[in-house]
Amino acid sequence: MRRTRSRPQAYVAPVISSSDATSALPPRAARLIGLGSWLPPRQVDNADLAERLDTSDEWIRTRIGIASRHIADPGMATSDMAVEAGLRAMKAAGVEHVDAVVLATATPDHHVPGTAPLVAHRLGLSHVPAFDVGAGCSGFVYATTVAAGLIHAGTAGTVLVIGAEKMSAIIDPADRSTAPIFADGAGAVVLASGRAGEPGALGPVAWGSDGEHADAVQIPSGGSRNPSASAREERYVYIKGNEVFRHAVRRMDQVAREAATAAQWSIQDIDRLIVHQANARINAAVANALGVPPQHVPSNIAHVGNTSAASIPLLLSHAAVKGQLAAGHRVLVASFGAGFTWAATTLLWPSGLQAIT
Ligand code: COA
Repeated sequence: MRRTRSRPQAYVAPVISSSDATSALPPRAARLIGLGSWLPPRQVDNADLAERLDTSDEWIRTRIGIASRHIADPGMATSDMAVEAGLRAMKAAGVEHVDAVVLATATPDHHVPGTAPLVAHRLGLSHVPAFDVGAGCSGFVYATTVAAGLIHAGTAGTVLVIGAEKMSAIIDPADRSTAPIFADGAGAVVLASGRAGEPGALGPVAWGSDGEHADAVQIPSGGSRNPSASAREERYVYIKGNEVFRHAVRRMDQVAREAATAAQWSIQDIDRLIVHQANARINAAVANALGVPPQHVPSNIAHVGNTSAASIPLLLSHAAVKGQLAAGHRVLVASFGAGFTWAATTLLWPSGLQAIT
């Protein structure tokens, strides 16, 4: 087969020799080697929202824990933010090529095609496998789990995993129950082949879903069930806030415990708890239920808001840059979102990990 000079060699799965299979080496695992994130420059604070909604700065701060959020300009799409975060993660990892791109998003540029191939193309990664994962706010942990599976199986050696959202595109600006919560942004990680248990290696995942609550966070129209919206509001995300709140706390507590147990950690071993940034009160309740002290729970919700699938990688990169995540920390990551879906995993924070924000 003829190859052009500029086109990177396709990744070929290594042959697993019998000596590898029977050696005392720990199993292959996905290792975090770089972090990147990007937020649109425009910030919208609570006073801006209170000008057009029946709400107040005080209500939003105390009930949600958000003071301001970043909102993309109308001409910007999810892929634009994903490219920015992806570039930064690859630079932080010191790589110019990866074997696959997995994009977690609930706000793809279009229903068809997927957004990941365009992102890969714009990153100069044309021809690598690239696909979207949709699992609401749990999407990033789902996507890293899929990527880790590709690495574990030897199907890919390095994977760029991005969480990117333009939530402002699916939020009704006139809905006071969603407009203060959701926001835009992107975060990304590069995963490479490593060995289970080594610093940076993702631990076993605990995850699940419950479609009985499919209507708790939903856009009523625009999909195959109901292609065209009969009312304006049906084009936007609708939430059953109380229901989501209760399930989020219960499920993240449960799934975090399962992931810790699978990693053979006790909850007392956890140095940092990274929780999906949905609501500061949800995060406090999860930390409290687990018995993790508040100073061990980094947060950026006050100025980033709920960026859905971008939330976890944004928080990881912000906490890393601030020095809140340091070498040797036992980190537990937990997420919950539309579906319902939930997922958690662990990692020992490695030394020298770069994060570019
Ligand atoms: N400003 C002022 N008042 C508001 C308001 C706002 N932005 N939003 C709701 N209220 C009002 C309600 O209308 C209600 O008024 P009522 O008592 O007269 O009926 C009152 O505040 C309490 O509403 P409630 O929904 O019980 O508040 P809450 O404490 O549950 O907080 C959410 C609401 C949405 C902030 C909270 O439930 C939440 O964060 N849920 C999860 C968010 C989510 O779905 N994330 C997506 C998936 S991760």
